[in-house]
Amino acid sequence: MPQSMTGLKRDFYCGQIDLSILDQEVTVMGWVQHRRDHGGLVFIDLRDRTGLVQTVFNPQEDPQTHEKSHDVRAEYVLALRGRVRRRPPEMVNPKLPTGEVEIFIRELRVLNEAQTPPFIVEDHAEVNESVRLRYRYLDLRRPSVLKNFILRDKITQLTRSYLSDLGFLEVETPILTKSTPEGARDYLVPSRLNRGSFYALPQSPQLFKQLLMIAGFDRYYQIVKCFRDEDLRADRQPEFTQIDLETSFLDQDSILELLEGYIALIFKKILDIELKRPFLRIPFSEAMTSYGSDKPDLRYGLEIVELNNELAHSKAQVFQEALKRGGCARALRAPGAASKLSRKQLDDLVALAISLGAKGLAWLRATNEGFQGPLAKFLSEEENKAISKALGVEIGDVIFFGADQPEMVSHVLGQIRVKLAKDLNLIAPKAYSLAWITNFPMFERDPETKRWAAKHHPFTAPMESDLAFLESDPALVRAQAYDLVLNGNEIGGGSIRIHSRSIQERVFKVLGLKKEEAKEKFSFLLEALTYGAPPHGGCAFGLDRLTMILAGASSLREVIAFPKTQKAACPLTDAPNLVDDRQLLELGLKVEKEEG
Ligand code: AMO
Ligand code: AMP
Repeated sequence: MPQSMTGLKRDFYCGQIDLSILDQEVTVMGWVQHRRDHGGLVFIDLRDRTGLVQTVFNPQEDPQTHEKSHDVRAEYVLALRGRVRRRPPEMVNPKLPTGEVEIFIRELRVLNEAQTPPFIVEDHAEVNESVRLRYRYLDLRRPSVLKNFILRDKITQLTRSYLSDLGFLEVETPILTKSTPEGARDYLVPSRLNRGSFYALPQSPQLFKQLLMIAGFDRYYQIVKCFRDEDLRADRQPEFTQIDLETSFLDQDSILELLEGYIALIFKKILDIELKRPFLRIPFSEAMTSYGSDKPDLRYGLEIVELNNELAHSKAQVFQEALKRGGCARALRAPGAASKLSRKQLDDLVALAISLGAKGLAWLRATNEGFQGPLAKFLSEEENKAISKALGVEIGDVIFFGADQPEMVSHVLGQIRVKLAKDLNLIAPKAYSLAWITNFPMFERDPETKRWAAKHHPFTAPMESDLAFLESDPALVRAQAYDLVLNGNEIGGGSIRIHSRSIQERVFKVLGLKKEEAKEKFSFLLEALTYGAPPHGGCAFGLDRLTMILAGASSLREVIAFPKTQKAACPLTDAPNLVDDRQLLELGLKVEKEEG
C-alpha cells in the first residue's frame, strides 16, 4: 500500500547530494533506478530529474528499514530520509556527480508502486521507437532524452529575453481561425454553432502578425504552435513550434542584423561558439547552381561548376543533347574519391541520380594515365584540360557530370553532393555552417496545376525593381525574402511584406485568385492594408529544428515531448480517433466509411 508524504519534506534533489553536505540528514524523493541486494547490505539508486544518488540499507544498524527495502522494485516512487556519508574508497564512482557519497537510510516510504516497465529506464537500453512513443512518459525519464528538453527550455528562455529586451511584445493569436496559406493543407475544425462552417488551424500566425503591425504594435513575437497537414519526414511534424516575429519600419538588412544577433546569442550561450557576423548571404540562383539546393549544407565543399563553355563542342552525346535543348552541363569534383569510393558506392550514386529523374550520371576518374570512365573516350585532350582547369582536378579525384535542364541538374547533383559528403565522410562532428539564402524568385510553377504559386507565401513583397514584370513575366520577379540555413536545414524564413493593397491585389491575380475569391478569403487583410499599414517584415524560426540541430539529434521527435508518428498519429493517446455519432450529429457531419 502506498504511503503518504505527510511529515516528510524533500530538502534536496538526488543530484545535489555531495561532500558539501556530509553528515547532514536529508530527505530525497524519486524513482528507483536499481536495487541491489548484497545479502546483507541493500543499495537503492534513487533517480530524479537532476540525477542519481546511492542509498544504503544496513540490517545491523537499522533492521526495520532494511526489511522494508526488500519490497521495493524498479520505478517505485520513494521518499528516503537518512544521513549523507562518504563512500568507502573502493566504492567511489567518479562518473557520477554524487559518486563520492551515499545516504544511509533511516526512513523509507513507498509513495507509489510501479508495474514492471516495458523497457529498462536507462540511456543505453535499445528500445523500438513505437514502444518509446507508446510509453513516452517512461521514455522521457531517461536522462539522455530529458537533456534535449532542458536544452529546448534554455533556447526558449534566451529567445524571450533577447526579444523582450529589444522591445518585442509577446502577443498570442488565435488557433481557431481562417486558413493562412503557407503551402500545406489545413487542419480543419468544424463549428457547432455555425453548422457547415469550419475553422482552420493556423499554418502560421502570418496574417495576424501583419495586422498587429497595422495596429501599431511595432514589434511582435510569439513562440507558437503551427499546424500543417503535409507529408511527414524526420524534420517535419504536423504540429510544430515557431519563434515568430515581426517589426515595422525596418529594411531587410536591419532585420537580418537583428535576427543574426539572436542566432549568435543562442550559439554563444548554448554551444559557446562565437559566430562570425554578418552571416554569409547567398543569392538563390547561386545556391541552386553551386550547391543544387536552396538549403545548401556548407560544412563541406563539393561545389558544382558549370561547364557549358568547356563542353560546348563536345562529341559526347550526353552533353550535345542537353546543350542543344537549352540545358546545361555541370560537374562536381569529389577530391580523392577514386580510392575512397567502392564500385558499389559509384553504382549506387548512378542509381540515385536515375531515381531522381536524371538520364544518367557520367563520371570520370583522374588517374596518372588521364581520365577513365564511361565518357573518357568521347572527350578531347583540349576538353580534358578545360574540365581540369575549371574544377581544379587532381590525380585521384572523381568527377560527376549532370547534363539536362538546369532545374533537373541542380536537383540531381544537389542530392549527389549530399550523398557524397556522407560516403566520403566529409562532415566534421560539431561543425556548424550558417547562411542566408536571399533573392528568391517570387513565384514558382505548381508542377500539378501549372499555375503560379508563391515561393514563400502570397504576402511577401516583390523587389521594387521587379514590380514592372509582375504581370508580364512573373518568373523574373524576385522576392524580398530570406531563409536561414544551418547545416543543410532551413531553420527559419521570412520576408518584407506587401503593405500596399494594390500590390497585394496584383500578386493575388498572378496567383490566379479571382477578385471575388481574394475578397472572400482575404478581405480583412485587403481592408486593413487601406487603413495605414506601415512598411513591415519579419521572420519565423523553427524552434524544433533549431533545437534538434543544437542537440545533435536526427529527428524532431527527439525534441518534442509528445510527437506524432509518420502517419500523424500519437501512439500514447491514440489520437486521432473516432468520435461519437452524437458529436457528429451536433456538428452536422457524416463520415463516409472507407471501402474495405
Ligand atoms: P515557413 O513556412 O518558412 O515560414 O516556416 C518557418 C520555419 O518553421 C519551420 N517549419 C517546420 N518545422 C517542423 N515541422 C514542419 N512541418 C515545419 N514547417 C516549417 C522551418 C521554417 O523555416 N509565416 C512564415 C514566416 C514569415 O514569413 O515570417 C512561415 O511560416 O524551420
Ligand atoms: P549513354 O550515352 O546513355 O550510354 O551514357 C553514357 C554515360 O553518361 C553513362 O555513364 C550515363 O550514366 C551518363 N549519362 C547519360 N545521360 C546523362 C545525363 N543527362 N547527365 C549526366 N550523365 C549522363
